[in-house]
Amino acid sequence: MFEEGKRLVVKGWVYRIRKLGDDKIFIVLRNAKTILQGVVDRSRVEDRLWKIAESLYIESSIQMGGTIVADSRAPGGYELKVDELEAIHVGEPFPISKDQSEEFLLDNRHLWVRSQKLTKVFQARHHLIRYLEEYLHLNGFYRFDPPIITASGAEGGADMFEIDYFGNRAYLTQSSQMYGEAGIFALERVYTFAPSFRAERSRTRRHLAEYWHLEPEAAFVDWRENMKIQEGLIEYAVQKFLANHPDLVEYFGIRDKLERIKSPFPVLTYYEAVDMVNRLGGKMEYGEDFGADEEALISSQYDKPVFIVKYPKKIKAFYMKQDPDDPELVLNDDMIAPYGHGEIIGGSERIWNLEELKSRMREVSLPEQNYQWYLDLRRFGSVPHSGFGLGIERFIKFVLNLDHIRDAIPFPRTINRYYP
Ligand code: 4AD
Ligand code: MG
Repeated sequence: MFEEGKRLVVKGWVYRIRKLGDDKIFIVLRNAKTILQGVVDRSRVEDRLWKIAESLYIESSIQMGGTIVADSRAPGGYELKVDELEAIHVGEPFPISKDQSEEFLLDNRHLWVRSQKLTKVFQARHHLIRYLEEYLHLNGFYRFDPPIITASGAEGGADMFEIDYFGNRAYLTQSSQMYGEAGIFALERVYTFAPSFRAERSRTRRHLAEYWHLEPEAAFVDWRENMKIQEGLIEYAVQKFLANHPDLVEYFGIRDKLERIKSPFPVLTYYEAVDMVNRLGGKMEYGEDFGADEEALISSQYDKPVFIVKYPKKIKAFYMKQDPDDPELVLNDDMIAPYGHGEIIGGSERIWNLEELKSRMREVSLPEQNYQWYLDLRRFGSVPHSGFGLGIERFIKFVLNLDHIRDAIPFPRTINRYYP
């Protein structure tokens, strides 16, 4: 990247600074693209420049210029012999130093986003989202932007954030699926990409109260083709990332893991998955849902994502189409990521017949009046259709093999934190 003997001027921030004896100051500059060590040699620069170097703090913003020389001791193998230095803003001593508690770093997230690790995560996030959208575009999907404020929930339950909407009760959306379903009647294939909100009291490494949700929905697609789209989407984004970003792949140490993310992904029925959990030492009854431990047991058997299909309708959302071979089951799938990262996708074929949908809503006591517009979609030229939702931060946590979902998003919202 650097060329010996070349003159270079760079802008950025002081990443590290160290004085060696009385006559040298090493300034490691970082910016979005690079890390470069500059050396200020007192005997070779004017006094003004030396004084600037002495005044700098970690994270002071600077412009630094000089000549590149090879130096095996410098990070990256090159060093800048500094002959030009301006402080853009010296600022105050930076509050974050080594070995700070996780809480302190979260309180100072607005500053911690500058860290090397988070910088790399955000770069990876940008590219991964780009590849996901690229795959959808190449496969005929249009982006279709949904509202965030809604009158009723999509996933039901008590997990909704309520807001005051000019004196009326409204909610932050749990899922944009229903709006995507409206969109297919215009565009056939759409995806929404928006935040979803879950007021779940879950304190885990994979739950956020606000997460980014990519939700494709397609007309004339059944549940099996729906799974093909999911598999294609995940494989495409992972393989593009692997091919185009070796620096990020090396930084996170994920090459071997990602090379294996190739279709086809294995498929288990719900019953097979429950049996597998029990065989592997877990304890589960038919009719129960998989928790993190059960998902980890299942995914430990594979080194790629695995589909679990045809869940009991009792533990799934009302809009999922029943299995014609067994009406107690639904035509759905969850995609479970390997290495204990758990569920990253939930999808299904939708009920597209009006009477069938109404009767399911009665079964689960959902008031019809709140869903008239959604029922309308089954009144005027209804068509078979399917869709799914991918949690972006879950996906990033899996791809980059992160310990905690909060590091997959710049400003995580969790049960006990919404500042900064
Ligand atoms: O399984 P979920 O709840 O399904 C739906 O919302 C459907 N309406 C999606 C659809 O068919 N259009 O959520 C889908 C995905 C999960 O698989 C998971 O990746 C992610 O959203 N997710 C969360 N991510 C972070 N924090 C949470 N609290 C999440 N809850 C779900
Ligand atoms: Mg789910």
